[in-house]
Formats: sequence, C-alpha cells, structure tokens
Amino acid sequence: MKKILVIHGPNLDLLGKREPGIYGKTTLDAINKQLKNLAKKAKIALTIVQSNHEGEIVDIIGDTKNKYNALIINPAAYTHTSVAIRDAIAACGIKAIEVHLSNIYAREEFRQTSLIAPVCCGQISGFGADSYSMALTAAQSLLNQKKK
Ligand code: DQA
Repeated sequence: MKKILVIHGPNLDLLGKREPGIYGKTTLDAINKQLKNLAKKAKIALTIVQSNHEGEIVDIIGDTKNKYNALIINPAAYTHTSVAIRDAIAACGIKAIEVHLSNIYAREEFRQTSLIAPVCCGQISGFGADSYSMALTAAQSLLNQKKK
C-alpha cells in the first residue's frame, strides 16, 4: 500500500473561520475527512498533520524518508519565507506536491513567490478545498509514473 503524508502549515487549523472570503468556509476537519475517503477508495494510507511551527515541520519532513512515497504540503505563510522547509523537502528526496487554497499569484506581491515550488514536482493553487483532492490525484499519478 502506498503511503502519503499531508502537511498543513500555520493557521490552516483556523480554516472555516479564517478569512472565509479568501479561504472558503470548509474546515480543516472536513478537508481531512474528504481526503481520507478518497485515499481509502484509492487504497492509499494517508497520514495528515498540521503544525504552526516551522522547526516542527522541518522535523516531520526529515522523518519521512523510507516511510512515505509522496508528500502533499500546504506550507501556508512559510511558502514565502522558509528556506528551511525548502531544504528539508530537497533533502528528504520524496516527491512533493505544493498546495494552496487561494491562487497565490493573484494576491499580494509577497505571496507571489514560493520558495517551496522549485523543490516540488508541481503546485496546485487556487481551487479552494478542492486543491487538496487535486493534489491527491496528482500524487497518485506521480506514484504510478514511478512504476513504469
Ligand atoms: C495559503 C496561501 C498563503 O499565502 C497563506 O499564508 C496561507 C494559506 C493558501 O492555502 O492559499 O496561510 O497557503
């Protein structure tokens, strides 16, 4: 069974209440439930974590080697600032997909740069809660490619 780790970064625990005009009304719990259902159907073992702490996220990524086949990450605000998370993804060698609920390229200038994107296989940005289900599909596709 393939194993995928989902990491939600800072403030994503507030989804549903947090700037719903930008991030939607869906809670993180609802997103996680939907992801778990999709993963079950696809026979994928999904582990989901949320952290508000950069160092903790670095530690979690550092611990992924030989434990997961792919990583789905919404680094949230750390997208735009964290060399440490970028380096951790590059070092762990696991295929990663970056996710954003909002379209970061249609927002403030400081959000239009992702330090994380260059070390990921790809990025999904702007589809609200659906960005996560799309990322799961993308991860499956990456894992299937690996078999070939
Ligand atoms: C976000 C976009 C980031 O700029 C922001 O800091 C977030 C959420 C998104 O999912 O749209 O916290 O990653």
